[in-house]
Amino acid sequence: MKLIITGGAGFIGSHVVRIFVNKYPHYTIINLDKLTYAGNLQNLQDLEQQPNYRFIKADIANRENIFKIFEEEKPDSVIHLAAESHVDRSIRNPLEFVTTNVIGTVNLLDAARSIWQPLDSAQGGNCFYHVSTDEVYGSLGDEGKFTEQTAYDPHSPYSASKAASDHFVRAYYDTFKMPVKLSNCSNNFGSHHFPEKLIPLCIHNIKNGKPLPIYGKGENIRDWLWVEDHARAIDAIFHNGKVGDTYNIGGNNEWKNIDLVKLLCDIMDEKLGHAAGESAQLITYVTDRAGHDFRYAIDSSKLQTGLGWQPTSDFRKALADTAQWYLDNEEWLNNVTSGEYLKYYEEQYSR
Ligand code: NAD
Ligand code: DAU
Repeated sequence: MKLIITGGAGFIGSHVVRIFVNKYPHYTIINLDKLTYAGNLQNLQDLEQQPNYRFIKADIANRENIFKIFEEEKPDSVIHLAAESHVDRSIRNPLEFVTTNVIGTVNLLDAARSIWQPLDSAQGGNCFYHVSTDEVYGSLGDEGKFTEQTAYDPHSPYSASKAASDHFVRAYYDTFKMPVKLSNCSNNFGSHHFPEKLIPLCIHNIKNGKPLPIYGKGENIRDWLWVEDHARAIDAIFHNGKVGDTYNIGGNNEWKNIDLVKLLCDIMDEKLGHAAGESAQLITYVTDRAGHDFRYAIDSSKLQTGLGWQPTSDFRKALADTAQWYLDNEEWLNNVTSGEYLKYYEEQYSR
């Protein structure tokens, strides 16, 4: 099995690559990544000497180059994670999200289609797996959960671009018999998460005594899943999921943003030896995100009953371990928060 994993230098991708390289030594794993601000080869330093792992630096929006790579490498399958992933950035620069998330996905589908001939999803030799998000389903009120049948209703440029790419992947299954699989996952947390997203941003800011920006009243709700659980779900779906099917992945773990940040403050107070309540004093309410989805919650019973996957139950421990990882990896944090990120951060929060 020769497998291209796109976006492997990013947050979730690096966890997926590590699982596949270590668990399947007989597979050749090629990590294809552009190394944007969010991609970092330091995330995979421990795999550099592994004989079944290789890295290719490439932009999925460069159609000619992607076709050339597929022609040369002839991968059997693709797990596609490369994307622009941050909602706030998509509000500032939607076109970048169309270019990578929509055009980049179509380029990969076409490149795979050009070498997987004859294409027949029933034969099961190849797989194009698109890793997507629950944000395509839109926003929930106080009740209910997203199922695989929920109609798409994206609100941000990010979720609109992911919805478009999901539609293309399904269209290639219907039109060309492309052997595809999809999953739509809730909010991940864990190590190697870029500190522009809520949890690593707050850990980083608490460490540096900086404000913790809470959008609006902090009452929006997200369903948090440990990244290792997501990577295990991707492994299960890639190997045992049904061709043409979609699987929802979630933690069954809903938190209001403000409650989550307060829990994180308690954990950080303990770890840093602060007085109880000290970190929470950094909480600062700021202008709400435009078009801010109120609540996400995922029904992942299809994955749980069909493929036997379960999320890790001890959320507080996983969150405390995550906080510890950032405290232990100061060099990583310093590297990723230098340069371009600082410029973005200044612009984002100077209101
Ligand atoms: P990330 O931003 O941490 O990493 C994205 C990776 O893609 C980076 O390594 C980056 O260099 C690479 N990349 C970006 N543009 C590229 C391009 N044009 N060509 C090649 N590589 C490019 O993202 P993440 O949080 O790890 O998310 C990975 C995937 O999972 C995305 O598709 C995202 O939509 C999806 N997802 C994320 C979450 C979450 O909570 N983070 C939840 C559900 C689904
Ligand atoms: O649901 C899955 C999605 O989760 C993924 O598809 C996205 O790639 C990923 O970035 C994440 O999107 P969110 O917008 O939910 O994540 P973020 O960490 O940016 O924000 C989480 C919540 O916290 C959201 O309600 C906005 C709020 N927030 C965020 C930031 C960065 C704040 O209140 N303050 C902040 O500074």
